[in-house]
Amino acid sequence: MPEILHVVGARPNFMKAAPVMRALAVYEQVQQTLVHTGQHYDATMSDVFFAQLGLPEPTINLGVGSGSHAVQTAQIMLRLEEVLQQRRPDWVVVYGDVNSTVAAALVCAKLLIPVAHVEAGLRSFDRTMPEEINRVLTDQIADLLFTPSADGDANLLREGIAPDKIHRVGNVMIDTLVRLLPRAAECWQNGAWQSWRDRPYVLVTLHRPANVDDPTMLAGLMTALAAIGHRVPVLFPLHPRTRRRLEAFGLSAAGSGIHLLEPLAYLDFLALQSRATLVITDSGGIQEETTYLGVPCLTVRDNTERPITVAMGTNILVGRDPARLQAEAHRILDGDVKKGSIPPLWDGRAGERVAAILSRL
Ligand code: UD1
Repeated sequence: MPEILHVVGARPNFMKAAPVMRALAVYEQVQQTLVHTGQHYDATMSDVFFAQLGLPEPTINLGVGSGSHAVQTAQIMLRLEEVLQQRRPDWVVVYGDVNSTVAAALVCAKLLIPVAHVEAGLRSFDRTMPEEINRVLTDQIADLLFTPSADGDANLLREGIAPDKIHRVGNVMIDTLVRLLPRAAECWQNGAWQSWRDRPYVLVTLHRPANVDDPTMLAGLMTALAAIGHRVPVLFPLHPRTRRRLEAFGLSAAGSGIHLLEPLAYLDFLALQSRATLVITDSGGIQEETTYLGVPCLTVRDNTERPITVAMGTNILVGRDPARLQAEAHRILDGDVKKGSIPPLWDGRAGERVAAILSRL
């Protein structure tokens, strides 16, 4: 029986793999294997996503854990090579732009195992971001490239990728959002969020090294958030990296209107996103989710690999500039909101399109 082996590792991979695996499950002649590299390993960063997204238990967990980029990437390669040599799957599918993505793609390329990249072609043109290096390298060695939007196709063609390898399928992350939005709405019934149900609030996520590893930058962002928090409560679930940096730099949110929370499960975060007055983020996926939901989004980055969220959606890039962030947030809280629309093929069926193409091969 032909085997398709999926490799996931970090939080943003899980909601992308889930719809592809579900759609492939319809093809009974295909055997699916799920490998978790263990890049993310905490209950709140990994396990709860598997449960809520309905992902099967990983067949294999490589258990690599944290480390420097080189250590993490090398460990994934070493451990995955052994698995792939044993199993020799017909296709390997990798997702997004994390270290697990490029590590897996490299191993496949050397073992001559065909590899498909879901969410190919995105470019920030900022090579100081580890994710940009991961994207460029993965796309160069992938045999099949599934893009979410037309800018992805154009980027790949410019980099010399053969047109017949490129398939524009839409946004798999939005598949998961569309499927689970009704379940997320149920979160409003449970105790944790009930009190926020009919109140305005600003939802924040920040975890990029460029924002949180520099004490001056992080202090500036906390000051801006505190000023916003004076007007409207700010809910800020903390990535483990961000929590550690706040502690190390002695930054606190006490008395500021900022509510620091643990990392949230998928459904809780989606529920909060869907009713937020404003989302402030440096994540990639959240720029897309807010565009789909029509919720205003301020992105604390100088660039984005998802320009369609700015061109068509509700996203505004404010740069790494706390003063600009504060000014734009006040403008939105005053009611000056950018209207957006949903990009083509962000329709909840991208996973089906991926599965149809893979099953033909
Ligand atoms: C990774 C991705 C990033 C993605 C993010 C989502 C790369 C290069 N980056 O960044 O694109 O937006 O995931 O979260 O792959 N940690 C824990 N528990 C965990 C996982 C991590 O405590 O379950 C801590 C560790 O101290 C670790 C740090 O977070 O050193 C960073 O984790 P890492 O996987 O290296 O990268 P992220 O910053 O999470």
